[in-house]
Amino acid sequence: MLIEGQSVLVTGGGSGLGAATARHFAGEGAKVAILDFDLGRAQAVAGEIGGVAVQADVGDAAAVGAALDEASRQLGSAPRIVVNCAGVGLAARIVGREGKLSFDVFEKTLRVNLFGTFNVMSHAARRMMELEALENGERGVIVNTASVAFEDGQLGQAAYAASKGGIAAMCLPAAREFARYGIRVMAIAPGLF
Ligand SMILES: NC(=O)c1ccc[n+]([C@@H]2O[C@H](COP(=O)([O-])OP(=O)(O)OC[C@H]3O[C@@H](n4cnc5c(N)ncnc54)[C@H](O)[C@@H]3O)[C@@H](O)[C@H]2O)c1
Repeated sequence: MLIEGQSVLVTGGGSGLGAATARHFAGEGAKVAILDFDLGRAQAVAGEIGGVAVQADVGDAAAVGAALDEASRQLGSAPRIVVNCAGVGLAARIVGREGKLSFDVFEKTLRVNLFGTFNVMSHAARRMMELEALENGERGVIVNTASVAFEDGQLGQAAYAASKGGIAAMCLPAAREFARYGIRVMAIAPGLF
């Protein structure tokens, strides 16, 4: 897909991988919206690249829908390119000191990383399906961020590895579901950066 002029949404674009991704797309001439829980950081990056910033907790499906509507409005169209970078890297033993269990860490990690990716992917795909197809039948692309931890989780990464394993596992069924609309789905599994 020719990136220049396309509408792009990057989640977690206020920091790290997401910020670098947003800068990259802006450098290629795309119109970039950054969705982040931390609006101040999102606005700082958006201001730097001439993009727009919207606030949402990716774990909140309704908030994600509203943020996507707002981003689409400000960009002039729904995003054709969506990169999910929002995530948390909480670490905890399954059974910690004095027998303390880590369900709260597990729940939060799954909610942000896995449910958050699902929320953004589903809301974005529904809007992408309504876009006019490009010359080659393509409508859009969704890139989700897993991690090398999905298959090589370290001690303390049970929750993180489970969340990233879910992202890796749902990639293929999502790609199969959206292929007929000309929407590609992929997952990346970075190592430490
Ligand atoms: N840093 C690494 O070594 C590494 C390695 C492999 C995979 N990853 C993955 O890459 C992605 C980006 O990592 P990073 O190191 O750049 O992270 P980072 O902490 O620098 O940035 C994450 C961004 O996500 C936002 N965010 C967090 N929770 C959110 C929520 N509930 N809703 C919306 N936004 C939220 C934060 O505000 C922040 O701006 C993550 O999914 C991470 O798991 C990172």
